Amino acid sequence: MTETKQDHWNRIYSRKSETELSWHQDDPAHSLDLAAQAGLTPGQSVIDIGGGTSRFTDDLLAQGLRDITVLDLSQAALDTLRLRLGPRGQDVTWIAADITTWAPGRVYDLWHDRAVFHFLVTPADRAAYLDRLSQALGTGGHAIIATFAPDGPETCSGLPVVRYAPEALAQTLGPDYQLRAHRLERHKTPAGAEQSFQFSLFRKIG
Ligand SMILES: C[S@@+](CC[C@H](N)C(=O)[O-])C[C@H]1O[C@@H](n2cnc3c(N)ncnc32)[C@H](O)[C@@H]1O
Repeated sequence: MTETKQDHWNRIYSRKSETELSWHQDDPAHSLDLAAQAGLTPGQSVIDIGGGTSRFTDDLLAQGLRDITVLDLSQAALDTLRLRLGPRGQDVTWIAADITTWAPGRVYDLWHDRAVFHFLVTPADRAAYLDRLSQALGTGGHAIIATFAPDGPETCSGLPVVRYAPEALAQTLGPDYQLRAHRLERHKTPAGAEQSFQFSLFRKIG
């Protein structure tokens, strides 16, 4: 039987501890830095797309944010993160969904995605993602999108990816989004390999 995308991610999160995952970071420094550059304040709202077991949510909670949503295809990932946060995460909204079919019911001040958009290798999936992004962000809202950079790996977790330079990502997002800042990172995986990422901060202007 063919494994679905959901099965794929649930299998990975069920078999590996969070610190064994190649994308694990102790400190999501670039995400936090760009969120600060976007002017994120404790009264604002954030959605972490494909948040997995990332520590971004822990750090946002520590900064006093209370309107945080974590969306992921993998229920196993959401369960691990919810367990780790314990009572700290009682106000977090959890959404188990595929970003390409999810229906946003509201708008957020900040959209954060580290290493999800790059898995969308067909024009139809990218268009579906951009449609959700457009619905979930009001004019003036911000998006941080991190992907493998042009010299990064061609696959992640056995799946093909599309690699982007910040300018190419800006072109893919289109004229409604202004590239405000970007960062390059040589991410050290727990196994000791290096992977090039780019982090871009966009402001929705259209
Ligand atoms: C490489 S991991 C990154 C996790 C997290 N953002 C981080 O930085 O630690 C990719 C994540 O995206 C989720 N994912 C993959 N495809 C997805 C999709 N179509 N919709 C929602 N989540 C997806 C996976 O379950 C996984 O948690």
